[in-house]
Formats: sequence, C-alpha cells, structure tokens
Amino acid sequence: MITNICCIGAGYVGGPTMAIIAQKCPHIRVTVVDLNEKRIAAWNDPNVNNIPIYEPGLSDVVAEARGRNLFFSTEVDKAIDEAQMIFISVNTPTKTYGVGKGMAADLKYIELCARQIARVSKNDKIVVEKSTLPVRTASAIKDILDNTGNGVNFQILSNPEFLAEGTAVEDLFAPDRVLIGGDTTPEGQKAIQQLVDVYANWVPTDKILTTNVWSSELSKLTANAFLAQRVSSINALSELCEKTGADVNEVAKAIGLDSRIGPKFLKASVGFGGSCFQKDILNLVYIAKSYGLNEVADYWEQVIIMNDHQKRRFAKNIIKTLYNTVSGKKIAFLGWAFKKDTNDTRESAAIYVADDLLSEQANISVYDPKVGIEQIQFDLNYLETRSEAENLKGVQVATNAYEACNNAHAIAVLTEWDEFKTYDWQKIYDNMLKPAFVFDGRNLLNKAELEKIGFVYQAIGS
Ligand code: NAD
Ligand code: UGA
Repeated sequence: MITNICCIGAGYVGGPTMAIIAQKCPHIRVTVVDLNEKRIAAWNDPNVNNIPIYEPGLSDVVAEARGRNLFFSTEVDKAIDEAQMIFISVNTPTKTYGVGKGMAADLKYIELCARQIARVSKNDKIVVEKSTLPVRTASAIKDILDNTGNGVNFQILSNPEFLAEGTAVEDLFAPDRVLIGGDTTPEGQKAIQQLVDVYANWVPTDKILTTNVWSSELSKLTANAFLAQRVSSINALSELCEKTGADVNEVAKAIGLDSRIGPKFLKASVGFGGSCFQKDILNLVYIAKSYGLNEVADYWEQVIIMNDHQKRRFAKNIIKTLYNTVSGKKIAFLGWAFKKDTNDTRESAAIYVADDLLSEQANISVYDPKVGIEQIQFDLNYLETRSEAENLKGVQVATNAYEACNNAHAIAVLTEWDEFKTYDWQKIYDNMLKPAFVFDGRNLLNKAELEKIGFVYQAIGS
C-alpha cells in the first residue's frame, strides 16, 4: 500500500491535487516540492489565506491537512528518496526556441525531474505523469530512468489532470473521471492498481478509468482540444450573429438543448485564455505534423486561429466604435484573469486586448479582484511589444471598479467575475464621459438595465 507520495511542482495542479489527496487519505504522507522558494514559502504561510493559488475552498483543505500529512518543501532530493510514488506536476510550456518553437511542448522541466529521480532513487518507485505531455513521453522518461538510474525498478503511469481553475476543489472532490494509463505487463498493472487504490479513497471506482499509457496521454490533449473547439465554434458563430441579427446566446441555448450537443462550453466570449488550451492544441498540431498528418494538423490549428481572431476583433471593435481613435482615452478594464475565481492570468484575452489598445495609445485602468499591478505589468512586458516604461505609463491599476471607471470613455469587461453584476451601474455611468460605452467581452451584464441608464452597450454576438 502507498503511504508516502512526493509531488514535484507546487503550481496550479500540484498544489490543489496533492492537498485533496492528503485531505482524503490521512494515512498517506504527501510532500509537495518545488524549486521556487517563494512559492513554497507562500504554501507554508501561517495565514492560510496567503497560499499562492486562489481557488474557492482550497485554503480550508490546506488548513486541515497541512502539517498533518501534507507538507510543502524545497528539499526535492529528500522527498524523492522517501516516496514510493512520485507525481511529476511541473510546467510543460510551448517551446520558445529551436525545433518546434511556438508549437511543441518544452519538456526540459520533465527531463530534469526524470534525471533527478533517477539519480536520487535507491529503491523501486512508481513515477506518475500528472503534467500534460505529448503522446509517447512516457517512453522518453522510461529511457532516462532506466539508463541513468541506480538499477532500481521504475513503473511509469500517466494520470492526466482534468481540473479547471476556479473550480479545482470541486473538480477534485467529484471528478467526472480519473484516468490512469500504464504498461500492460503484470508490473504495470500492479502499479496502476496502487494508484487506483489511492483515488478509491474518495472516487467511486466506476469513475476510475484505466488504459494503456499512450491512450491516456493522448486523451488529455484531446479533451482540451474538444473543449477549446466548442468555444471557438461558438465564437465563430458570434461574428455571424452580429451580421445577421441572430443572438448568439439564443443560438447557444437552442443548440445546447440537443442532448447530443449539451449546454456546456457554449458561452461566446472575447476568446479563451488559460495556460493550457492553446499550448495543448499547438502541441497536438505539432504531433500531427510530425507524423505527416497535415490535414489533421490544419483542422485543429483553426481552433487557435479563430481564438486569436476573436481577441483581435474585440479590440478592433472598441477602436472603431470610439470614433476610430482611442489615443489618450481612458478605457476601464473590468477583469484581467483568464476566467473568474482564479488569480491566474496566463494567456488571458485581457492581455492581448490591452496590447492592441496600448498600441493605439489608449490609457488603460484595470480592476481585477485577484490580480495586481505587478502581474499585469509582467504579462504585458512578456509580449515585448513596447518598453517596460511605456507599459507602466499606459496601464494603471485601480483598487476598485468605481475608481477604474471614473472619467473613462469606455468599459471593457474581460473576466466574468460575479461581483461585476452587483455594482451600482448608475453611479458608474454618472462618473463616466459621455457617451459611455460598455464592451462586454463576457456577455455578463444586463443589456436592458444598462441601456436604460444610458450606456451604449455592446455584447459579443448580438
Ligand atoms: P505551474 O507553472 O503553476 O507549476 C509548475 C511548478 O513546477 C512551478 O512552481 C515550477 O517552479 C515547478 N518546477 C518546474 N521544474 C521543476 C523541477 N525540476 N523541480 C521542482 N519544481 C519544478 O504549472 P501548472 O499550471 O500547475 O501546470 C502543470 C502541468 O499540469 C502542465 O503540464 C499543465 O499543462 C498541466 N495541467 C494544468 C492545469 C491547470 O489548470 N493549470 C490543469 C490540468 C493540467
Ligand atoms: C481547462 C479544462 O476545462 C480542464 O479540464 C483542463 O484540465 C485544463 O484546461 C488544463 O488542462 O489546464 P481551464 O483552462 O482552467 O481548464 O478553464 P476553462 O473553464 O476550461 O476555461 C478556459 C477558457 O475558456 C477561459 O478563458 C474561459 O473563460 C473560456 N471559456 C470557457 C469560454 O470562453 N466559453 C465557455 O463556454 C467556456
């Protein structure tokens, strides 16, 4: 029986998944390790509200398990040495250099983990791929472990994570399924069973699916590709709705009631963001191309092309509507995170919309309940479109939405935070320049109410 787990990577996946395993399995000692000392210090902050990842419900879970059987540490070697099962939850970003630049997954962090596990391990271990990886990565990990290890035995499992940010805790408590891929050999099957036994502490066994390693690895990329494809499909239709007088919300409802289609992931928006959809689809495209499957690659790449178009066209529409110039105009951004209930901003549509407006010399004032100036500046500087000084000059951060909107020419809603719906919109209107525009990139606000106040309101797809 597994009684000691180590997880390498204390990020958006490693932190929450291990916190839930520890909470649900008090008999297992779970140690989450990371090279990032600041991140580990934040996970260990005595005030549990200061943990580095904002997820509803997560601080309660951490408060219960931390110090009991959940530990956060920078002592990677020690945790590897002591563990029977090691989860790899490090980042796998899109490559920014060399072959596959801009498309393939950068596996350098994965390889470093594999080499470290091989170097440190003195007894047999199960290594679990929790990070999202290209199909057939397990064979590369196995190669490294077997050729650089101390002669001990490693079993490699693929156990991709399907949680969505903002709902991570509920997704982990009650997952639609847990997927575990492993070798078809008796040793592989035994390793699979040991991981099944961990999850079976709280997940019904009929929701724990076991497959071969390659199916498991590919299923993860496929799931994200299908989800993102739905968003790009509805966003493609949103533009047609705007031309034809159809309303994309009505279209989404009408098609979503077909049980074969279903209602989820049909919300038109300024474009999907997040650390994974784009990266995983690009990776899928790269894999297809590397097998010479150009039609397959082109098919999935279109999901990204459509998403880029949606972000750009949102910014273009703001400029066009504001009489073809935003130079010197104050535009208030409500939201910067890539979706509500998270402090994660990776690939958020807000970044790209801001970038386009800054290129047109707009002044942007941002309010996001969970994101501060440091992160916003980091996101813009990362694009390298203009100097850091220019980004600093062009973007201010307000402490609340009323301040952000004060004397603004227009408001752009970039994240669907619930609190935006509860504001005193009359007060916001009174303090804006007229005509006062709202560009609702999330179809969040009440059109009739805002128009009654006097706003010029534009949603996506109607
Ligand atoms: P993240 O960047 O938040 O966390 C990764 C962490 O790994 C970082 O803190 C980094 O310092 C650490 N790390 C990197 N190399 C290390 C090493 N050699 N030793 C120790 N620590 C190391 O990333 P994330 O969002 O948690 O994503 C991790 C993986 O999970 C990715 O493959 C991603 O595609 C996948 N995934 C993410 C989500 C999500 O919602 N974010 C959901 C499902 C799957
Ligand atoms: C997504 C998947 O939903 C998870 O199952 C997966 O584990 C994860 O990626 C991952 O691999 O990282 P996440 O990116 O956290 O989760 O959040 P989603 O809820 O999927 O939203 C992604 C983006 O799509 C957000 O910007 C969201 O606003 C947008 N979206 C989503 C829409 O614009 N419309 C929708 O109908 C749904």
